[in-house]
Amino acid sequence: MSQPKVLITKRIYPEAVALIRPHCEVDYVDSDAGLSPEELIQRARGCQAIVSQLTDKLPAAVLAQLDGVRVIANVAVGYDNIDVPAATARGILVTNTPDVLTETTADFAFALLMAAARRVVEGHAFVHSGKWGKWLIDLLVGQDIHHRTLGIFGMGRIGQAVARRGRGFSMNILYSDAAPLSPELEAELGARRVSREDLLRESDYVSLHVPLTPETRHFIGAAELALMKPSAILVNTARGPVVDEPALVEALRNKTIAAAGLDVFEEEPKVHPGLLELDNVTLAPHIASASVATRRRMSEMAVENALAVLLGRRPANLLNPEAFQP
Ligand code: GLV
Repeated sequence: MSQPKVLITKRIYPEAVALIRPHCEVDYVDSDAGLSPEELIQRARGCQAIVSQLTDKLPAAVLAQLDGVRVIANVAVGYDNIDVPAATARGILVTNTPDVLTETTADFAFALLMAAARRVVEGHAFVHSGKWGKWLIDLLVGQDIHHRTLGIFGMGRIGQAVARRGRGFSMNILYSDAAPLSPELEAELGARRVSREDLLRESDYVSLHVPLTPETRHFIGAAELALMKPSAILVNTARGPVVDEPALVEALRNKTIAAAGLDVFEEEPKVHPGLLELDNVTLAPHIASASVATRRRMSEMAVENALAVLLGRRPANLLNPEAFQP
């Protein structure tokens, strides 16, 4: 009997490719270019599994042309690049890579928070420029982090991990989420659930950890930014479209808020030109989960999920269990 065939759409860690090779015929796109939707559809012909990345857009119109594909294993915890209900309707299983990246992503959200608050990138550029003449009492003064208020939108795994870091810095933790935490977890994290408006009004730092859905597109826009303190700092390690980028540029330019730390953008890899002109923003190229260990493990998890389906098993990180037929 011939082996099942898997398409890996873009370069991943080699250890992960090695895991699946003994079991499958592998069509590995061993490059960083990725595939256009047309190329992906063509290369997926005859494949039962696709290992995809967040740069692969898989809307219903593309899924409709993936005949024979049984599983799409995304190398990411987020899956807004895939129309999961449309996949379910076609009986295609979809998996992601949760948990492994929680702490790594929270580390980076905190790194952005600290860099923006204490002007680390500005300091680096200043020293590099050769303009540093003498020590001054108010040279690059920033804002304290300890004992300030951290507001977290989306208190899932990553939001909770960010709260724990905030606790370590003696911060006051507020959160807003449709689902309240248990009283025990609230007590452990020292976190208080408040309304969206109160969180915006009271926080010195606002960190975003909501998934991108139709409801959270432009979750933070001009009205929300206007509610924030002029000294507040916004951190986004979730997804770019959660923030209305032109509104944020205006708010940073007019000092409606003090600063932002951004890892994600509305049209990656494009960045709003206004953001590139501002000093009060710290920018990173979607690397919050990018530690060697985590990115390697994410690659392996995606491949393990794909392999499980091809071997007739339920994958560990199934997003649409209703589509699974044992
Ligand atoms: C990265 O952004 C992810 O969703 O894993």
